[in-house]
Amino acid sequence: LPRILVLASGSGTNVQALIDATRERDFPGRIVAVGSNRPKAFALERAAQANIETFVVDHTQYDSREAFDAALMAEIRRYNPDVLLLAGFMRILTDDFVRAFRGILLNIHPSLLPKYTGLNTHQRALEAGDPVHGTSVHFVTEELDGGPVIAQAEVKVSLEDTPESLAEKVKAKEHILYPIVVRWFCEGRIQLGSDYILFDGELLKAPLRL
Ligand code: GAR
Repeated sequence: LPRILVLASGSGTNVQALIDATRERDFPGRIVAVGSNRPKAFALERAAQANIETFVVDHTQYDSREAFDAALMAEIRRYNPDVLLLAGFMRILTDDFVRAFRGILLNIHPSLLPKYTGLNTHQRALEAGDPVHGTSVHFVTEELDGGPVIAQAEVKVSLEDTPESLAEKVKAKEHILYPIVVRWFCEGRIQLGSDYILFDGELLKAPLRL
């Protein structure tokens, strides 16, 4: 089975969704470790609870991005992953890191990319008056939140929404979307080309919509 490694910085509700999905008997991959840059990330507790190995590379202990990424890469290599997932991992990765895992490195980002790369996506969607918002799973490339998008899920924005309520709605979609995309990836159905995606061997002209 393909070996999945997940990196997370926070509460890890997406990690939980991935743990639950990969526990299903027919899931075509297994999580071999969950790593974090934050020793207290609740994501680590979720993994430990599921008897999954965990590791921490604390970014505050490194004085450059390069040194942190080199240490993180060394830790990741010990698990020899076939799939590397960012699930609420809140560190920007160096080009060297991204290149080292090109084609197996996926991220989930809380907006309908290319809208709202970076932070505070929910607030920005509200301020723009967007009627729909959502989440995207994409390949990670050197361009921040700019790699080819595999799939997206939408949520409706209501007048009563706050950044917090919108974040919750988006997360509920993420918990469905990410495991589905990871399943496809593990089945070998999704491949990254130079700047495009092949889905079942055919050029993906637009992100899949769920
Ligand atoms: C998720 O909504 C994810 O899309 C977002 O952080 C949240 C993590 O929640 N990721 C980013 O903003 C990446 N820049 P979780 O810890 O409950 O999975």
